[in-house]
Amino acid sequence: MYDFSAYEGLPKPELYRELGATADALTAGEPDGVANMANLAALLWQLLPDLNWAGFYRLIAGELVLGPFCGKPACIRIPLGQGVCGTAAASAQSQLVPDVHAFPGHIACDAASRSELVVPVLREGRAIAVIDLDSPSPSRFDAEDQAGIEALAKLIAPRI
Ligand code: SME
Repeated sequence: MYDFSAYEGLPKPELYRELGATADALTAGEPDGVANMANLAALLWQLLPDLNWAGFYRLIAGELVLGPFCGKPACIRIPLGQGVCGTAAASAQSQLVPDVHAFPGHIACDAASRSELVVPVLREGRAIAVIDLDSPSPSRFDAEDQAGIEALAKLIAPRI
């Protein structure tokens, strides 16, 4: 097992550089997408502070289906266009939500969630999955988090 918690406390740009380098090393050369998503969910969970959920939904037959994650058990299927995840997947645009209660149609899998960042993983401009991060703190995520997770999504798109 690997312990990456020493990276906590770094300024966000450095934290996301470390996250990207570690994600690259963990997934390079491994063709199994589920194994890669499982390790990436664990890495996000370990490296990023103040989360209550971190993981993947995959686009399968026109809907989002729960993938590897860390956190409490979550809703399994999300229709495209619904909730924060379905909005990110349908629009192929990241969704930075400072207050989940103010997002129309937010799906509350864990009642503790207060803010959320969902980034689509794109292939040829279309979402194949989303990375979903939830926090119990309002306004936990900012533009630096979004840029960091978008860079991660780009790196892992061919590996999941
Ligand atoms: N809140 C998400 C649902 C997934 S859970 O947060 C893990 C949404 O509104 O799509």
